[in-house]
Amino acid sequence: MAEGKYLVGVDIGASSVKVVQLKESRKKLTVIRSGYADLPPQTIIDGHVMATSHVVEALLKIWHDGKISQKDVAIGVYGQSVIVRKLTLPMMTKEELDEQIGWEAEQHIPFDIKVMSIDYEVLKRRPEASQMDILLVAAKKDEINDYAALLREAKLRPIVVDINAFTIQNIFENQFGLPEEGTIVLLNVGAAVTSLNIIAGGVSAFTREITNAGTSITEEIQKQCNVPHEQAEAYKCGGGPTQIVPQEVHQVIQAGCDGLAGEIQRSLDFYLATSGEQEIGRIFVSGGSAYLAPLCKAIEKRARVPVTVMDPLTNLGCDPKYVNEQQLRSKAAQLVVALGLALRCDKERRA
Ligand SMILES: Nc1ncnc2c1ncn2[C@@H]1O[C@H](COP(=O)(O)OP(=O)(O)OP(=O)(O)O)[C@@H](O)[C@H]1O
Ligand SMILES: [Mg+2]
Repeated sequence: MAEGKYLVGVDIGASSVKVVQLKESRKKLTVIRSGYADLPPQTIIDGHVMATSHVVEALLKIWHDGKISQKDVAIGVYGQSVIVRKLTLPMMTKEELDEQIGWEAEQHIPFDIKVMSIDYEVLKRRPEASQMDILLVAAKKDEINDYAALLREAKLRPIVVDINAFTIQNIFENQFGLPEEGTIVLLNVGAAVTSLNIIAGGVSAFTREITNAGTSITEEIQKQCNVPHEQAEAYKCGGGPTQIVPQEVHQVIQAGCDGLAGEIQRSLDFYLATSGEQEIGRIFVSGGSAYLAPLCKAIEKRARVPVTVMDPLTNLGCDPKYVNEQQLRSKAAQLVVALGLALRCDKERRA
């Protein structure tokens, strides 16, 4: 449970920076500050910041424009420098596990563990089988240090580092609860990356990242219609009231969505084949590309289960003094990572 004061959630994505600050007032969680800033293409590649100054500028602007005074933040990381493994180990105490975890990490992580920051979470204890399931998480120290330096440059203090896929699970659990039975999938389709988290019996059973998302469709529109990036983005998002979207754009979008839905389905099939699980109950899609209606339809068609765009703001309040509620709600699905991070507090007890 949350303890201390809420940190500001900072999601540095390939296409934009998203920021949310929460507060609990009268038992209701309320968004008290928020901010959004686009990043130029190529600022971030595979979760790695290539052009630090763009991100620092974006953060400074968000803090200034959003009148945010809190400087303590939680950030999310993803990409190839992050590794998540689910392990089954013999039952042991927390002290024994703390001692053992380095050795386990060495067996399961394909990098020198000296350069990795290691953490774990116990998912389930199964005394009847004398076993426990744990989630082992490792992130490259260099990468974390780079993010920390960047945040300090923006005059912020990084307090918590989390993994994007789990921040989404946290906000989902907070808002809707995790079903104790059955299997659901939380998909986040962003600009560069699609992340997939399969939750079975209330715990994360499988995570995967696919390096294909909204940007590849934008780039294909750019190529086919011979237009600049901004124009292609506008076409993809439906164009403005006065803009006529060329017919071939719809075909490009459809083909891109079909391709991505196929990649997602391969991951779901892999999970079903290896876990012995029979079926998936429901899929919740978040990330900016969740607003691409043909994508949700294509996923639904292949998976043959209901696909819903996740709205993490359903039960949250907004402080009208600082937050433009309409603007915020129009981007709700894009804010899941920032919201999940904004649930983190500066003094947390570890479960
Ligand atoms: N209304 C919309 N219709 C279609 N696509 C949209 C819409 N709004 C945003 N997008 C797309 O969503 C993507 C951005 O989503 P998001 O902010 O979740 O990604 P990100 O966090 O920046 O990237 P990543 O998670 O891959 O690093 C872009 O590709 C953008 O074109
Ligand atoms: Mg993202």
